[in-house]
Amino acid sequence: MKKVITYGTYDLFHEGHYKLLQRAKALGDYLIVGVTTEHFDEARGKVNVVDSIMDRIENVRKTGFADEIIVEDHDGQKIEDIQRYGVDIFTVGSDWIGTFDYLKQFCEVVYLERTPDISSTLERKNKFKIVNVGIVGTGRIAPRFISEAKYVSGINIACTYNPQNQSAQAFSNRHDIPNYSGEYEEFLEQVDAVYIASPNETHYDYARKALVNGKHVLCEKPAAFTKREAQGLYQYAMDNGLVLMEAVKTAYCPGFSQLVNMVQSGKIGKVCDVEACFTRLANDNSRERTDAAYGGAFLEFGSYTLLPVIKLLGTDYKDIHFDTIYDENGVDLYTKVYLSYDNAMALSKNGVAVKSEGQLVVAGTKGYVLAPSPWWLTRRFEVHFEDSSKVEVYEPVFQGDGFRYEISDFVSKINGIDKNGYKLTAEEAIAMAEVTEAYMKQKKR
Ligand code: CTP
Repeated sequence: MKKVITYGTYDLFHEGHYKLLQRAKALGDYLIVGVTTEHFDEARGKVNVVDSIMDRIENVRKTGFADEIIVEDHDGQKIEDIQRYGVDIFTVGSDWIGTFDYLKQFCEVVYLERTPDISSTLERKNKFKIVNVGIVGTGRIAPRFISEAKYVSGINIACTYNPQNQSAQAFSNRHDIPNYSGEYEEFLEQVDAVYIASPNETHYDYARKALVNGKHVLCEKPAAFTKREAQGLYQYAMDNGLVLMEAVKTAYCPGFSQLVNMVQSGKIGKVCDVEACFTRLANDNSRERTDAAYGGAFLEFGSYTLLPVIKLLGTDYKDIHFDTIYDENGVDLYTKVYLSYDNAMALSKNGVAVKSEGQLVVAGTKGYVLAPSPWWLTRRFEVHFEDSSKVEVYEPVFQGDGFRYEISDFVSKINGIDKNGYKLTAEEAIAMAEVTEAYMKQKKR
């Protein structure tokens, strides 16, 4: 019996896939089809896959060509599969010519002519219209958004806004963005969605106005300084079918989700303590070090350090307490937030003028998770147990500076695909706004 194997994502199943499978089957007697997991696709930079793995497997099954369907989830698996299943022929479309020649030492490799003029990428383009995004605020983070958005399909950066028209113009020229404006309403007319990266105190107003004008919003944190304001924004977005996402980058990084899911699956027992620290020494004349009202450590890093706390211990904390070191002008240099829950506790440490170990430790009744700096990008984490010789190390995929995952989720949500909505729910974002409100109330004035 001649065994044939082929692999693919099979997203938005199309004629090209069908024909490939048909010809692959005809090469032998038994066809094995490997369908990629979401994780593996993310690792390969395919962040916009629409169909779930179950749907993609089902579509392959329905063709009737596959005698066996397996899941592909890691590099190097093809060699393992070929040996494990005793495969005679590996085949794939001609777009991959040469890429899989290294498999020739294990079996025959056949590149089948690709069906012209059709691909999942094209189907995605036809199915979803390009989202025109406008950037509010042309400061330090905006260029990072632009360079990472290039890796996400279905997005076009159409316009920039800065109340100072000239700054908007200079920024648009520098980054090859077709339009700019110093008038917010005029700017909004030119876009479907906005990314808000302006100073902290302006986020809420810009977000609210954008929503009221029917635009989707990706807003840098904190989107609001009070629970009520945050609730209002999320409620308005929900009632009007608009997407509102707070740009807490960590929440959308694949490794962070893996860490949270692993902890929630009970691997370290019941979670009793979460400690997260993020410090970055800011320039003396930076906004973080000079703006006593809206700069400082907590407002800079609090969303990151509270994220694992809220995700793992929930929104229902019993008590909260802040300790801050201020400078002579009342700028928050270092803030610790203590949260207590029923039978659990948490600590968030944030610094712009105090340096500490930037780690995340999640302690449970059976073991603990340690994610070293920069845990907020979650490139690595370890699971430790009482038996110190037993350590599990995870090195999840992470590409670029992580922004692309958040942008990709934003675009997917706008297109009605909300498979990642759980990564930062409205309830969690509102709970973070509540903590921000508590911080602002007790803050030295
Ligand atoms: N394929 C093909 N003809 C096409 C498109 C895909 O023969 N027009 C083949 C690929 O070469 C591969 C298999 O179908 O062997 C699965 O490909 P996949 O990457 O899932 O599909 P694409 O449409 O190429 O996806 P994308 O546009 O996301 O790269």
